[in-house]
Amino acid sequence: MQTPIRISFLDHTAKLGGAELSLLNTLQKLDRSRFAPFVILGEDGPLVQKLTAAGVDTCIVPLESAVADAKKDQLGASSLLKLNAVWKTLKYSWRVARLMRSKRVDLIHTNSLKADIIGGLCAWFTGLPLIWHIHDRLEGAYLPRPVAATIRHLCRWLPDFIVANSQSTLDSLRLPTRDRSAVIFEGIPPEQRPAFTSALIPPPESSGSMATVPVCDDVSGLNQTLLPGPANKPAVVGIVGRLTQWKGQHVLIEAAALVRGRFPNTIFQIIGSAMFGENSYEAMLKRRVMELGLGDCMQFLGFQDDVGSLLDRLDVLVHASILEEPFGRVITEGMLGGKPVVATRGGGVPEIVLDGITGFLVPMAHVAGMADAICKLLEDPILREKMGREGRKRASEHFTTNQTVPQLESLFERIGGAHRRRVAVD
Ligand code: UDP
Ligand code: GLC
Repeated sequence: MQTPIRISFLDHTAKLGGAELSLLNTLQKLDRSRFAPFVILGEDGPLVQKLTAAGVDTCIVPLESAVADAKKDQLGASSLLKLNAVWKTLKYSWRVARLMRSKRVDLIHTNSLKADIIGGLCAWFTGLPLIWHIHDRLEGAYLPRPVAATIRHLCRWLPDFIVANSQSTLDSLRLPTRDRSAVIFEGIPPEQRPAFTSALIPPPESSGSMATVPVCDDVSGLNQTLLPGPANKPAVVGIVGRLTQWKGQHVLIEAAALVRGRFPNTIFQIIGSAMFGENSYEAMLKRRVMELGLGDCMQFLGFQDDVGSLLDRLDVLVHASILEEPFGRVITEGMLGGKPVVATRGGGVPEIVLDGITGFLVPMAHVAGMADAICKLLEDPILREKMGREGRKRASEHFTTNQTVPQLESLFERIGGAHRRRVAVD
């Protein structure tokens, strides 16, 4: 009997961004009788524990800070040529390549832009086949132009195959042909229904007592909560995702001020933290909430390990990115949870949300448009229910690991298997 194909999965970070959760969900579902995953991460972090809990062989090879701390949206042309960083990347990749050899890896899969470069060098050192799994749109608005252009160029010859998380992401690579690339959407585990706040917020059928929702930190003047019970249950509008300018939480805050004019009881929840150090953006959001007098209805819940139960309690899920979102896992999670979605029209989002059917698409950074769409849903519970139902159906048919992992598996089998056969012949 054939031994499982050994795949080395590479990511520079162990923080729980969407790409890393995507990797985790894939590995949780991967058929271990056919594939043996070996994950190499550039740092320690919460992903390590989750992978270990899933029984995935995981190893940390620490990246030096010159490489690890370089933020992709702050790189310039000069950073591509910094000799020190280039030398450190080469040395690091050599070390990782040796580790891959010792683990007798058959295939390399890279999951972040930094990992793409490192994995590219490893493939060059080892002769192993390489799959780039691209989660970011390679456009000037999202990355500095020279960096985007360089990676687009590398896409043509470095990886053996490219997986993109949406058609929009794939288009941004501007590949001359499509024969070595495919769109594989993000997959959410369909069973994802964790219990985060069930102990903290009374379930809808319980009596009208008040409960405290955890708030990420202590900001004086911000109301720390209070969800009344079902008797006059206020509508809850939420946004989920890391706090960073391009995710557009500030647009929702401005829109909330308009929505409150029409639906004064509405509660707004901002779920997520400034994961990659955008603390000044978070401080600005909280200041703006105070300036707009929204302290009594805007809740900052911080990072939640499991967003499932919070999603359950929302009436409307908002996605507010002001740049084209490459995919947007949070949207599919909301849809899978049966929630109507108000999302910004850009990037991969129109591939997920059917405008007027599973939710409303609004222009990016358009406060009034967003407020209008939220109000349309708040005033019409039947529409919310109908769109939620359509969303759940669409998400369960296209955006769960049941659909996506088998697609990845057949790719791994094809490329990893071909490599094995080549090695056997040699
Ligand atoms: N997420 C989470 N806890 C939070 C906020 C977000 O677990 O407090 C998860 C969210 O459920 C989703 C992922 O982080 O799975 C974000 O992925 P998405 O593709 O929406 O955006 P990204 O941050 O990758 O750009
Ligand atoms: C990236 C993108 C996000 C996508 C996620 C998973 O972090 O910003 O849009 O959903 O990767 O592919």
